[in-house]
Amino acid sequence: MRIKLLSFLYRSSRYTITHFIYFFQKILFRPRDLETAVKIGDKVLGSFFILKKVIFEFPIPAGNDLDIYGLKFPSPLVGASFKADKNILDMWLQMGIGSIIFKTIMKEVRNGNPRPRLQEITMGGGTGIFNSLGLPGPGIKNFSNNIKDHILWDYNRPLGISIGGDSISDYIDNIHQIQRSLQNNDHQYFYELNISCPNTDNGQTICEDPGALQNMLSLIRENISQPISIKVSPDVSDSTLDEIGEVCSSFDQMIINTGNTHYKKISEINLDESNFSMKGGGLSGTSIFNRTIEMVNIFSKFNMPIMATGGISKIEHVNRLKESGAILFAMATSLVLDPYCIPRINRQL
Ligand SMILES: Cc1cc2nc3c(=O)[nH]c(=O)nc-3n(C[C@H](O)[C@H](O)[C@H](O)COP(=O)(O)O)c2cc1C
Repeated sequence: MRIKLLSFLYRSSRYTITHFIYFFQKILFRPRDLETAVKIGDKVLGSFFILKKVIFEFPIPAGNDLDIYGLKFPSPLVGASFKADKNILDMWLQMGIGSIIFKTIMKEVRNGNPRPRLQEITMGGGTGIFNSLGLPGPGIKNFSNNIKDHILWDYNRPLGISIGGDSISDYIDNIHQIQRSLQNNDHQYFYELNISCPNTDNGQTICEDPGALQNMLSLIRENISQPISIKVSPDVSDSTLDEIGEVCSSFDQMIINTGNTHYKKISEINLDESNFSMKGGGLSGTSIFNRTIEMVNIFSKFNMPIMATGGISKIEHVNRLKESGAILFAMATSLVLDPYCIPRINRQL
């Protein structure tokens, strides 16, 4: 009852704030931009923190915990890499998420692409997000300085550190820098290599080039034994996914994360050009769920834990992916649309 009520209040407040902002953007002849609503929404949620016991705190039901390479997940639900705001990440942990992966961190400080670069869209009967943020972030130096004493370690749940790079050496330098910050702590953490978005020297993503992935993992494994999740793109062919599975399963302590956003041109999703600064972007949400199942099926033949990401919002999705072989279930869009899916799914597991 409490979950139902709070979920309703969250969704109606979100709808009101978003449409209020769209209204002002319209009368001021500005492009529609969801990012303004996200920033205001995050502040509003942050200001509710004094009421956190009542509105955010949900115990994780016992019996669904997992031990993966010594990492203890109290719930198989994971916050996918997409958010950096510590209050919001804290809120999801209070609601019972088993693990959080920080937003991908790149070498330099980045502003990302020009706005508007984030929109909510309806597709295939469900709501999704279309983004081309361009990996804005504080850069590896600032991130490494702050990660050691981050408040989220207090939860003692595994935290994922998502690494990006414009070249193999960027990934390696970034991971080493973080490892230096964390090595004398007993925090539970894993790395996630976001091989889906950034471009390497030859213009390809590492996800399109399993040979480059093999090379990169060999170099990383010379000094780093921490569990590593490889986040693959749904946009590469099934045969490339197969090769990636072969490469990853030849290393120890690997996790496969099946699914980033799907690249679409703005014409494919019926978005007005004036409302998006780029020619295309990444689609997330319910409409990408079927590809997530296909990917889990492809990777299930390798002997590696699979984290499924893409279009998950309810217990039926989790059960379907579990049948296909996934053991962790990561969510991004549904945490934005209704974070009360966390306690709801936890209770239904
Ligand atoms: C606004 C936004 C930003 C994202 N940023 C990242 C990122 O920094 N790194 C990453 O690996 N994935 C990123 N993603 C992809 C998500 O982690 C996830 O793989 C994708 O949204 C599919 O899951 P979903 O359908 O549950 O949203 C982002 C997604 C969204 C919507």
